Amino acid sequence: MTPSRIYHSADCDPELIMKRQITVIGYGSQGRAFALNLRDSGCNVQVALRENSTSRQQVLSERLPLRSMAAVDKSDVVIFAIPDHEQPDFYRNHFPNEDRGNRTLVFLHGLNIHFGNIVPNPAYDVVLLAPHGPGKDLRDSYAQGNGMSCFIAVAQDASNRALRTGLSLAAAIGADKAGIYETTFEHETLGDLFGEQTLLVGGLAGLTTAVFQTMIENGIPPENAYLETVHQLRMLASMIEEYGPAGMIERVSRTAAYGSLESMKALFDRQFEDKLQEVYGDIKSGEFNRRLMVDAAKGFPVLKQLLSAAREDQCQKTTAKFSRRKEEL
Ligand SMILES: NC(=O)c1ccc[n+]([C@@H]2O[C@H](COP(=O)([O-])OP(=O)(O)OC[C@H]3O[C@@H](n4cnc5c(N)ncnc54)[C@H](OP(=O)(O)O)[C@@H]3O)[C@@H](O)[C@H]2O)c1
Repeated sequence: MTPSRIYHSADCDPELIMKRQITVIGYGSQGRAFALNLRDSGCNVQVALRENSTSRQQVLSERLPLRSMAAVDKSDVVIFAIPDHEQPDFYRNHFPNEDRGNRTLVFLHGLNIHFGNIVPNPAYDVVLLAPHGPGKDLRDSYAQGNGMSCFIAVAQDASNRALRTGLSLAAAIGADKAGIYETTFEHETLGDLFGEQTLLVGGLAGLTTAVFQTMIENGIPPENAYLETVHQLRMLASMIEEYGPAGMIERVSRTAAYGSLESMKALFDRQFEDKLQEVYGDIKSGEFNRRLMVDAAKGFPVLKQLLSAAREDQCQKTTAKFSRRKEEL
């Protein structure tokens, strides 16, 4: 497999985006970072919010032009910085079937395009710019001059310059300094969903909870269990980030390394691999997307029920106790 291309500052024409009216929809985690970074890079950017949005005051106090959703109609570049499940209705309501060309839709995650929840007008360019981290870090890294890397992909290239437009935008948010990684909407979507469900969010939370529970069932006090699990996660996760999984294992004690390598073999067996493949299959087939959209349309009853059960877990309660203690110190 050929490695994907990585673009840097020399590949980006910052001027390309300067001539165009950019609207960022939403002012949450990514919307704020995109809008502020684009403004500070000299772009013609405005923020569009729905009526009675709780973010109005913040947009105004951060000296950004605030527009109603009607402004979306007149924009050359529209950045979708609202939650994924809100985007399909937003598209249906704000993008009439029109012939207008010279318009770029920018998505920060590939889900809605990849699974066809949004089928954009073929006259538009459709670009993915997915930063590799939360909005706060995107903004902070821009302010510090380092920038945050991101993925770039093109789903529709009506203008024949969708990639160049995307690269120009990526540079304006500061990603050119850290690397703009070429991908496809499919790979970003499947990789992002599978990575978060099985490792970064679901895997970490699930394994932490299960290990904690096993300790409790064997008589280990909750405080001990917390100190042997949650308390040390950050340190070991940073070691994996720096040295890789085997590099981390090489740097812990011989006791920890020996026991961990044996347990890894026992736990992550063929059955576990089959389960991972099942989750991947569920995502790839579009079944996960379908369930997500159905639950979202009903106001997320399933998500709320699962979350409320997770809040009742003893690991969660013990962690909350320790966090309160830290705040009191
Ligand atoms: N968060 C991350 O770390 C991260 C990382 C990479 C990519 N992404 C992607 O970035 C995109 C945005 O995610 P996010 O986490 O930044 O979103 P978010 O913080 O949840 O977005 C909140 C903003 O969206 C507005 N909003 C919500 N529903 C709306 C609607 N129906 N119409 C108009 N505005 C609406 C809210 O306005 P009100 O004030 O009116 O409620 C608020 O300004 C998603 O595609 C996500 O997958 C996120």
